[in-house]
Amino acid sequence: NLPARVKIVDVGPRDGLQNEKGVVPTEAKVALIAALADAGLPVVESGSFVSPKWVPQMADTPEVLARIPRKAGVSYPVLVPNLKGLDAAEAAVGVEEIAIFGAASETFSQKNINCSIAESLDRFAPVMERAKARGWRVRGYVSCVLGCPYEGDIAPQKVAEVAAALYRMGCYEVSLGDTIGTGTPLKARRMIEAVAAEVPLEQLAAHFHDTWGQALANLLAVLEMGVSVIDSSVAGLGGCPYAKGASGNVATEDVVYLLNGLGIETGVDLDALARAGWAISSVLGRTPGSKVSQALLAK
Ligand code: HMG
Ligand code: MG
Repeated sequence: NLPARVKIVDVGPRDGLQNEKGVVPTEAKVALIAALADAGLPVVESGSFVSPKWVPQMADTPEVLARIPRKAGVSYPVLVPNLKGLDAAEAAVGVEEIAIFGAASETFSQKNINCSIAESLDRFAPVMERAKARGWRVRGYVSCVLGCPYEGDIAPQKVAEVAAALYRMGCYEVSLGDTIGTGTPLKARRMIEAVAAEVPLEQLAAHFHDTWGQALANLLAVLEMGVSVIDSSVAGLGGCPYAKGASGNVATEDVVYLLNGLGIETGVDLDALARAGWAISSVLGRTPGSKVSQALLAK
C-alpha cells in the first residue's frame, strides 16, 4: 500500500528555528528557505505570526517573507493562531498559505495557545473564513497525537475528533503531530486508522518529532497505510541543547534517504538538501542532527 510519491513539507525554518536558544539572523533564515526550495522541497514552512513574547525566535517573520526569493510551484506557509496573526499575515509580503494549529490534549492547548480546544476551534473559524475569502490555502495541525507531555496517553478518538473539526472547517490537509516523539509504530497505525475514518487519508500528513528515536519507524508504519505527506526538518533542526530531552523533527535528509530506498518519488535532491543542512548547522555552530547527513559528510 506504499504511495508512489510523497510530498515532503520542510518545517525546519519554523518548527526547528522556533526552538533555538539564540536568535538566528534573518539572513540565515532567508538563505535556508531559498536553499530548501532549490533542493526541490515543494513546501517550506517559513515562520509564524504568534506573540513575540511567547516565541521571540519567529518575530522577524515579516522580514523573512519580504526577503525570500519565491520559486514557482513552491509554497511558503506560515502559522497563524488567531485574527491578530491573520492581520499580520495580510500585511506581510506574499502569503498564500497559512496553518492553524490545535491540539488533541486540553492541557497542551492551554500551555501552547492559552485556550481550550473548543475555544481554539472558535478562534480558527473566522481565521479560516477570511483566509478562504482571500483565496489562501489553510492547513491544520493537531498536536500531541501520540502523547502529551502533561497528560500522557491521548486517545486516538480524541485526535480524530479534532482532526475532523479542522477538516470540516476547510483545512485542505491535516498534519498530525507527535509533538514529543513518544509514539511507536503500532500506536501510530492505530491513530491513523482512527483519524482516517473521519478525514480522507490523502489529506493527512505525518509530523513526527524524533525525541525517542522512533520517527523513521513510525513513518514507515504509516507509509504502509498509504499516508503520502510527511513533515520533517532539515538537519533535524529543533533540538534545543539546553532543554532537557527536547529534540527536533525527524530529519528531512533521513526521510529522503528512506523514501529513495523504497523507490518513492519526492523530487528532492538529497545532496543539495544536505548542503542546506550543513550551511544552517554551521550558523548554529553544530553538526547536523541527521545520520544520513553525517554519513554523507564522512564519505
Ligand atoms: P494570548 O495571550 O492568549 O492572546 O496568546 P491575547 O489575545 O490575550 O493577547 C495577549 C497579547 O498577545 C497581546 O499583546 C496581543 O496583542 C498579543 P500585549 O497587549 O500583551 O502586548 N497577541 C499577538 N501578538 C502577535 N501575534 C499574534 C498575537 N495574538 C495575540 N497572533 C497566542 C495567544 C496564541 C498568541 C499565544 O499563546 C502564542 O503566541 N503562543 C505561541 C504558540 C506557538 O507559536 N507555539 C509553537 C508553534 S505550535 C508547534 O510547534 C506544534 C506543531 O509543530 C505541531 C506539533 O509538533 O505537534 C505545529
Ligand atoms: Mg512540531
